[in-house]
Amino acid sequence: MVAVVMLVGGSDRASAGDAARGAELFALAAGCNCHTPAAGPIGAGGGEVPTPFGTFYGTNITPDPETGIGRWTDAEIAAAIRDGDARDVGAEAPAMPYYQYAGMSDGDVADLIAYLRSLPPVVRQNQPHEGELPLARWAYWFWRVLFAPSVSRPATAPTDGLARGRYLADHIAICTDCHTPRSALGVPAADRYLAGASPGPGGQVAPNITPHPSGIADWSVDDTMNLLALGMLPNFDNVQGYMGDAIDGRGGGPGYKDGPERDRRLIAEYLQTVAPIDNVVGAK
Ligand code: HEC
Repeated sequence: MVAVVMLVGGSDRASAGDAARGAELFALAAGCNCHTPAAGPIGAGGGEVPTPFGTFYGTNITPDPETGIGRWTDAEIAAAIRDGDARDVGAEAPAMPYYQYAGMSDGDVADLIAYLRSLPPVVRQNQPHEGELPLARWAYWFWRVLFAPSVSRPATAPTDGLARGRYLADHIAICTDCHTPRSALGVPAADRYLAGASPGPGGQVAPNITPHPSGIADWSVDDTMNLLALGMLPNFDNVQGYMGDAIDGRGGGPGYKDGPERDRRLIAEYLQTVAPIDNVVGAK
């Protein structure tokens, strides 16, 4: 009987994943910080995501059974992260970068879910999106059909080298999501990979981070390491905006600085190998 209950559901289900590994991934995923309000607590929802299509608020991803994801099965949480399909709601707005997380390995998504289930549950109702168009769900559904690239997802993530650096940059830390420019319909331009976006997310300027002179050709691996660990630019200024949040974490949550140093290095090394693209963004 106990086994049946565990299979059918309940708010305190056990996950197959490893929560400690999931905590590392959560940090490398910038603490999924759209889901954390500026004053915390972690995952309670309400982080603001301004987009050209209205303002969205990150949802409650704590295990509270009523207002969070406590009743969701692992498969439902995995679908929300990787397939853009939220339980009871359907197609997610592409404000949630599921199309980047789509390439997350089965093992990593299981670990991340185990970590999410270990968060203290917080009672907090989700906030409706502002400026949302009528029939928006259909629009999200069409967007997903038309634009979400079909990405193959490995059972386990690459463990080392450039393959892991790329995997982390594209599917966990999603550097790609902010630093690649988009079309008017919000579709990332594959041929401008990491070439910078102005305006980028939230109207902020996301610099060109390819190894081109108009990008970060003059940065060493250690320069990028210092940025990802300390938020410090090569000229000793502090990085600002979303990048600062992604590194430091928001609302007491973790950020890139809290992820494994080895993984930060693999991302930094990978960036040196991407195609250099000539693109001057912002004040550069
Ligand atoms: C949520 C959006 C977002 C994400 C995700 C993001 N960045 Fe950034 N990044 C920015 C913004 C915005 C800036 C500009 C910050 C400023 O003006 O101080 C920036 C700045 C930078 C810079 C400084 C470039 C320069 O020329 O000054 C580097 C390098 C960088 N990001 C690399 C990365 C890497 C590597 C990742 C993934 C591990 C990443 N970013 C993820 C938004 C983002």
